[in-house]
Amino acid sequence: MAQRSNGYIIGFATAVCVVCSVFVSGAALSLKDKQLANAELDLKKNVISVSGLKTAGEDGQLVITPEDVDTFFKPESADRVELGYVELKTGSLTDEATVTAYRSANKGKCEELPAKENIAKISCLPKYKEVFKVYKNNSVERIILNVEGKGLWSTLKGFLAMSKDGQIIQGLTFYSHAETPGLGGEVDNPKWKKLWEGEKAFNGNEPQIKIVKGAAPSGVSTDGKIDGLSGATLTSNGVEYLLNFWLGPKGYGPYVKTLSKGS
Ligand SMILES: Cc1cc2nc3c(=O)[nH]c(=O)nc-3n(C[C@H](O)[C@H](O)[C@H](O)COP(=O)(O)O)c2cc1C
Repeated sequence: MAQRSNGYIIGFATAVCVVCSVFVSGAALSLKDKQLANAELDLKKNVISVSGLKTAGEDGQLVITPEDVDTFFKPESADRVELGYVELKTGSLTDEATVTAYRSANKGKCEELPAKENIAKISCLPKYKEVFKVYKNNSVERIILNVEGKGLWSTLKGFLAMSKDGQIIQGLTFYSHAETPGLGGEVDNPKWKKLWEGEKAFNGNEPQIKIVKGAAPSGVSTDGKIDGLSGATLTSNGVEYLLNFWLGPKGYGPYVKTLSKGS
């Protein structure tokens, strides 16, 4: 067989690389919109999963379809979820136009927290944060807070559903994390997530979430104490800290206070 010259081999390899990179970048570009739409759909499904608007089937599985997302995010539906924004410092609700204008005028601006206050280990604190109001038969039933904080390997991002007075936890779910499957990844275990329902989040004004290594003391089932995840103390601690942070004075605390006053 005739030997090819070095120039031919390099030229051929370059041509293959160029053709492949055109294909890959073309695919990435053309799929970008679809990926964004799927990410949004997934977020909304997670919101609905803690909204209480859809219940699990007989097999115990909670299946949320794209049609459910359409229905429950429609402003005309009597049972629905509505996105709003809270100014964290004051706890007051703010309209979307104000938040959009602020965010585009102050791109990436947020408050760096001293380590002592930053128990959730967030990169920095935004001025406004999302809140979802859950309506059942046109009246507010729950509110859903957007929470995040460091676990062992990753930042856990999730939704915390609270009763309409902001006092009792109704559900917790994480839509993004990279903790180890079977260890910290057990934050996704439906049995563990169920433990949160009905827990009292505050003792007076203080958030009182405590994830207890092993099993939480039995008998008092609503005191904010939850069984730890076995072999995942660091992830469990991360969840405890992030919840106490977002329920506290730097997080949604001022907003929750307005809810408990019934406003
Ligand atoms: C490969 C590997 C993955 C681990 N993943 C996690 C994890 O996701 N979350 C966590 O808290 N600990 C994880 N750990 C364990 C921690 O290193 C640490 O030992 C543990 O958090 C101590 O918790 P324990 O007292 O419940 O055993 C992992 C350990 C290994 C070796």
